[in-house]
Amino acid sequence: MSKPIDVRNMNIIDLEHYFVSQVYKEDLLGILISKGQIKSRVDKIAEDISKDYDKVDNLFALCVLDGAMRFYNDLFFNERMNLPFQIGTCRTSSYSGTESTGDVKIASFNFNRLAGKKVIVVEDIFDTGRTLTALTKQIEEYKPQSIEIACLLDKPERRLSGVDIKPKYVGFIIPDNFVVGYGLDFNDQYRGLQHLGVLKEEVYKKK
Ligand code: IMP
Ligand code: MG
Repeated sequence: MSKPIDVRNMNIIDLEHYFVSQVYKEDLLGILISKGQIKSRVDKIAEDISKDYDKVDNLFALCVLDGAMRFYNDLFFNERMNLPFQIGTCRTSSYSGTESTGDVKIASFNFNRLAGKKVIVVEDIFDTGRTLTALTKQIEEYKPQSIEIACLLDKPERRLSGVDIKPKYVGFIIPDNFVVGYGLDFNDQYRGLQHLGVLKEEVYKKK
């Protein structure tokens, strides 16, 4: 299995170097990870999962909406995913603006579908850890054969103490900046940005 790429000490790339839609430009500080870099890393994780689950016939890929939608698509609807799997989506919410409210809501999914399955939970970002802790706890009640987590991003500086889950598949380790794009949002905006960008502080402070 491949290690995540640690981008915590890398410079944020100035917007002039890439095509960025005018819609997003003025709210961004810069680009943290380009769409090409994301694509290459997601392809590798697809290969990792495909190897680890070789000959498995009861894989269930659970997408955590809305943020992981894009990552999930690129990861599982990928020609490197050389195995059968079932798909499903659930919805969690704990955020208002850039602050986690601490109260995780899980909806829109019949968890009975996970009984006896090897589940991979696909999430956009592992931040405080509240969402994935609550979600894996809930899944465990429905007796899956196993649970692993795939997340595109890991922001370790934000982790709450006592969080004892650890995603098996991680794309990138990122600094404590609020990031948007590639499906991730701020107040339901910026999801369509193709790269992973850093939002200007003044944008989320003013709202
Ligand atoms: P946690 O429960 O604090 O780990 O938060 C996980 C959820 O918070 C993720 O699924 C994201 O939706 C959201 N989140 C955390 N950090 C960011 C960020 O930098 N940008 C966008 N969404 C974020
Ligand atoms: Mg999310």
